[in-house]
Amino acid sequence: FFKKRHYKFCLKAHMVITHLRLTGTKYACGRGGCGACTVMVSKRDPTSQEIRHFSVTTCLVPICSLYGAAVTTVEGVGSMKTRLHPVQERIAKSHGTQCGFCTPGMVMSMYTLLRNHPQPSEEQLLEALGGNLCRCTGYRPILASGKTFCLVSRGLRGHPQSKNDGDRRSSLGTQESQLFVKEEFQPLDPTQELIFPPELLRMTENPEKRTLTFHGERVTWISPGTFKDLLELKAKHPEAPLILGNTSLGPAMRSKGCLHPILLSPARISELNVVSKTNDGLTIGAGCSLAQVKDILAERVSELPEEKTQTYRALLKHLKSLASQQIRNMASLGGHIISRHSYSDLNPILAVGNATLNLTSEEGTRRIPLSEHFLAGLASADLKPEEILESVYIPHSQKWEFVSAFRQAQCQQNALPDVNAGMRVLFKEGTDIIEDLSITYGGVGAATVSAHKSCQQLLGRQWDELMLDEACRRLLDEVSLPGWAPGGRVEFKRTLVVSFFFKFYLQVLQELKKLIKPRRYPEISDRFLSALEDFPGTVPQGVQRYQSVDSHQPLQDPVGRPVMHLSGLKHATGEAEFCDDIPMVDKELCMALVTSTRAYAKIISIDLSEALEIPGVVDVITAKDIPGTNGTEDDKLLAVDEVLCVGQIIFAVVAETDVQAKRAIEKIKITYEELEPIIFTIKDAIKHNSFLCPEKKLEQGNIEEAFEKVDQIVEGEVHVGGQEHFYMETQRVLVIPKTEDKELDIYVSTQDPAHVQKTVSSTLNIPINRITCHVKRVGGGFGGKIGRPAVFGAIAAVGALKTGHPIRLVLDREDDMLITGGRHPLFGKYKVGFMNNGRIKALDIECFINGGCTLDDSELVTEFLILKLENAYKIRNLRFRGRACLTNLPSNTAFRGFGFPQGTLVTESCITAVAAKCGLPPEKVREKNMYRTVDKTIYKQAFNPESLIRCWNECLDASSFHNRRKQVEEFNKKNYWKKRGIAVIPMKFSVGFAATSYHQAAALVHIYTDGSVLVTHGGNELGQGIHTKMLQVASRELKIPMSHLHICETSTAMVPNTIATAASVGADINGKAVQNACQILLKRLEPIIKKNPEGTWEEWIEAAFEQRISLSATGYFRGYKAFMDWEKGEGDPFPYYVYGAACSEVEIDCLTGAHKKIRTDIVMDACCSLNPAIDIGQIEGAFIQGMGLYTTEELKYSPEGVLYSRGPDEYKIPTISDVPEEFNVSLLPSSQTPLTIYSSKGLGESGMFLGSSVFFAITDAVAAARKERDIAEDFTVKSPATPEWVRMACADRFTEMVYICPLPLEPPSHPTPWAIFK
Ligand SMILES: Cc1cc2nc3c(=O)[nH]c(=O)nc-3n(C[C@H](O)[C@H](O)[C@H](O)COP(=O)(O)OP(=O)(O)OC[C@H]3O[C@@H](n4cnc5c(N)ncnc54)[C@H](O)[C@@H]3O)c2cc1C
Ligand code: FES
Ligand code: FES
Repeated sequence: FFKKRHYKFCLKAHMVITHLRLTGTKYACGRGGCGACTVMVSKRDPTSQEIRHFSVTTCLVPICSLYGAAVTTVEGVGSMKTRLHPVQERIAKSHGTQCGFCTPGMVMSMYTLLRNHPQPSEEQLLEALGGNLCRCTGYRPILASGKTFCLVSRGLRGHPQSKNDGDRRSSLGTQESQLFVKEEFQPLDPTQELIFPPELLRMTENPEKRTLTFHGERVTWISPGTFKDLLELKAKHPEAPLILGNTSLGPAMRSKGCLHPILLSPARISELNVVSKTNDGLTIGAGCSLAQVKDILAERVSELPEEKTQTYRALLKHLKSLASQQIRNMASLGGHIISRHSYSDLNPILAVGNATLNLTSEEGTRRIPLSEHFLAGLASADLKPEEILESVYIPHSQKWEFVSAFRQAQCQQNALPDVNAGMRVLFKEGTDIIEDLSITYGGVGAATVSAHKSCQQLLGRQWDELMLDEACRRLLDEVSLPGWAPGGRVEFKRTLVVSFFFKFYLQVLQELKKLIKPRRYPEISDRFLSALEDFPGTVPQGVQRYQSVDSHQPLQDPVGRPVMHLSGLKHATGEAEFCDDIPMVDKELCMALVTSTRAYAKIISIDLSEALEIPGVVDVITAKDIPGTNGTEDDKLLAVDEVLCVGQIIFAVVAETDVQAKRAIEKIKITYEELEPIIFTIKDAIKHNSFLCPEKKLEQGNIEEAFEKVDQIVEGEVHVGGQEHFYMETQRVLVIPKTEDKELDIYVSTQDPAHVQKTVSSTLNIPINRITCHVKRVGGGFGGKIGRPAVFGAIAAVGALKTGHPIRLVLDREDDMLITGGRHPLFGKYKVGFMNNGRIKALDIECFINGGCTLDDSELVTEFLILKLENAYKIRNLRFRGRACLTNLPSNTAFRGFGFPQGTLVTESCITAVAAKCGLPPEKVREKNMYRTVDKTIYKQAFNPESLIRCWNECLDASSFHNRRKQVEEFNKKNYWKKRGIAVIPMKFSVGFAATSYHQAAALVHIYTDGSVLVTHGGNELGQGIHTKMLQVASRELKIPMSHLHICETSTAMVPNTIATAASVGADINGKAVQNACQILLKRLEPIIKKNPEGTWEEWIEAAFEQRISLSATGYFRGYKAFMDWEKGEGDPFPYYVYGAACSEVEIDCLTGAHKKIRTDIVMDACCSLNPAIDIGQIEGAFIQGMGLYTTEELKYSPEGVLYSRGPDEYKIPTISDVPEEFNVSLLPSSQTPLTIYSSKGLGESGMFLGSSVFFAITDAVAAARKERDIAEDFTVKSPATPEWVRMACADRFTEMVYICPLPLEPPSHPTPWAIFK
């Protein structure tokens, strides 16, 4: 790399990898938080001479840091052209890829693990994959593929060793549970792996001692070869930071714009990696990575007696959950300590463990304590600018000393902590008198905070309840967190401060009991000991069941079989090409977007002068450059005069490179004049009567009369937060203008290419027929790539027209999250009237959704919400009303489930509330009110709920629900601080668009003279496997193997006027169109086949060509005639329903709000699945995404309406460790749906809502805790049920203490940040 001038300026490894056209290494966050850019780095250790292989995220790896290292990307592991690696083969064949954008990163994490451990344990596998996010699969199949390498595997396939399964007879008939055949996999042969390059080996044998200097455009990288040179350089450039893992410097340089002109890299200095063990402690070199520190500590713990390793074990506990494997491989101990992040997981423990820092400079060496003053950054306690941290000394603990670590984050793995703590107590020998006490907290201030004063005041006290009470009061007083603290969650954090101390108190008490004889401690009842255990990371297991194909079905017919995703292997090798993988085209320019920083304001002036002077900047595209229409009056592509939300696009900068375009943006000055009223929340919108469209309403029976006749009435409120799509591939488009007739080729990541084409046409004022949109594949859409890609396509097209150059626009994660909007937050009010036996007689629900600043799909979402609110229940007297609020937030849009997951949470919460009032279990109230026989919905559409009932019963049976309900109750009686909850939820989900024109599709099938067939249809491959299913259909119809068939892309030139691939009906409607085209072709071939029945396919095709029979046909499907009359409240809006049921069990920690998912069983009515592997994948993926919506995914805004949560570090989508410990999915067979292709059902969206079973299991557990604590059982339901919500809902003496010790008053200039559900 370094020889080529071109690369001198590329600081990050991923940029070099991209320049080398190694497109397998993906880029999805740029912050080390998603794992998409994972590669393996191999280095030879100069001391041990061993070669170390470790995974890293290249978006944070400076290219210069790789001097002397070998980098293996996914392309180096194996390819379709040469040989597939077993990891690649197995992840694809186990159905572990959907959109495939995360797959190369997954492959690299797994590959690196296998290079170090060819037969890893399941726990090692889980740890290795913990830093790789996948938004599609729900992780289960990825784990299943990895488990095939494990020495002992409990399987995610085959019958699970269920703890609670008992004797169960399935009513599901002939079923299979094999989604892949393990025996077919090629074995892993570690001897066949790439060797460490000999030239690099030679380099380490003869290490370069010279100082190496790399000059970049703005930064100089200096890498000394000796310790002496390093110290000299530090003396010469005291302001220059040392760069080790770059996991702290890198993100700061990126997000805060810090620029360091000189960086000193001590990567070659072996003195920083020295580890020395003494009788009283351990000294670890500051250059050791956190992964190495973990190994060193683990080794020491295994060598020393327990009493000496208290601090080491506390550090190890946090090292397991700190960041991801990749970050732990990169980040250094020195970098971690010196960064002094307030959330640091290690500093609080090192501080209480009396660690000291060994500093060195040219002047000599000295030691400073890692004290509260050092952590607060006090100059007197800090490093001098010319000093470096050489090593860290951590003393052994001693007898009568106890050290513990605590941590609570939004989720268990790969999440920064909300609060963490290190606590140490030393007792006077043989007593329980406190001799020394140290407590430090992270996450509660600008730095790690020590509760020094409180600790001093408790010296000499006995370790008893009185001390506990006093300590809590003192801690709350000393660790005071202002109400306006950044990030909010203030009461929660304060509660954790004391809850952690309580846990510590109990832990130590247990130890004292063992040590002090005679025992004079009252026994702690077992019920209270549940406070002590943390939730261990458990490797999920489970089984997937589906209907076997008919034994008479020809082997060659793939319909109904678990066929691998067509692109699976290409995903795994990185050869699958996504939009941004298209090589740079001649004269291509990059575009970046300038967005509003104000929520509602007039644009007074724009100063572009400095921006235009930046080298490489070509032009600025404003609304004035649009030759056609600038969006609509209420929803402009580019803002004119006024902005309506933070993140609204105002104009775009075009430059030679992406970096130049972004630099230019920083120089643009816009002045605004704030306008009023600024409205963010639903409640504000209601107050200001600010709505996007008229109210939607459905009513049946006589609700008022019914309310008068019921035994009881309950009213309540439900808040459901919004959700970010977080597709792994952000929005992107490449527009290539052609030389003739204003033609444009547009390569775009979209669910709706025809919409992009139409929007570009109206924006440029050119006919649609000049514009061709191409979609090869999309790295996840979930509804977020229906409307928005047209905006980006149109702006890029204006840039292409104005400059005459091809334009590439790729949004980075922050901009994508800021600009695009997501799922509508909802506020629902209900009033329900019911009899004491749980029968609901009247239900009145009013919902408001936050639509943001433009209409987008909000009216449609409101309609769907209202249509679907009744879910599975037959209630005679109903009134549903819904409105979309106009606010100053980015416009919310379509998202998997389209209103159903939010709305139905209100209905189900209402059922739970009724159950609580009647003293009945919620499942009884659900059963009592469920549709039972052929009936009509609230909008008078007739349907048969037989499959709904079957799913429900099967789910109760499969999950052994009733037994487990009793076990949960037993558990709860025995445990005070941990509670379990269980819930089973039924679902009736309507698919389709509720509009006739959307129920049509077309396909184009060409047969070529060699017999190969090209299939094109109107659907887009988003990861949901639509192309695979279409070829299964074509294979059955043409009676030829799938290997004869091919799909190249979706193109508006091949199939025009397509419908967005959405609403779960993509495969239904396009499948029918493909079937139609194939049947037309087969009909034409019939005479030839009849004449030569023994002939081959190729012979028939040759004969047909000779006889001038057309071998190309368009197929068309004129689908369901949907209608809805909103005046009358009647219609037939949906072609069919998908039924399902899910049962989930969880355990919560009442002291921290954390939960673990014990088990989930899903039964789904897929009718005759076209491809059970794909359909189960859709159900699991949607379920996990739903679980994210209802438990961890929380959008937070600044008081000014700026989205805080703009990346994987602040916005937590589920990770692999969030999969339920036991996760079973069954497809209900043998039902019929005449309207769809081969009686299959579309399962793209429905699984999302089943994630709510986890939510209701959590609320069930919270209710159990509240009941025991004698607190009102009816509490306001709020989704997501984050640890914060759970902890505060399980109110106890500690939450009370927090309210008693009030917060400092909130200054009006610093109001608290707020969550989107408000
Ligand atoms: C995605 C992600 C997730 C994370 N999650 C967590 C988490 O859950 N918990 C947690 O605690 N942390 C977390 N972190 C933070 C991480 O622990 C730190 O960024 C990391 O330890 C810093 O080490 P580094 O080697 O990368 O430092 P660098 O970024 O290389 O350097 C950081 C600073 O340390 C200075 N420095 C480094 N070494 C020395 C030395 N020997 N002498 C003097 N100065 C030195 C540098 O000058 C620089 O100012 C996360 C980070 C990322 C990117
Ligand atoms: S892109 Fe590197 S970790 Fe996300
Ligand atoms: S397959 Fe993992 S993100 Fe799409």
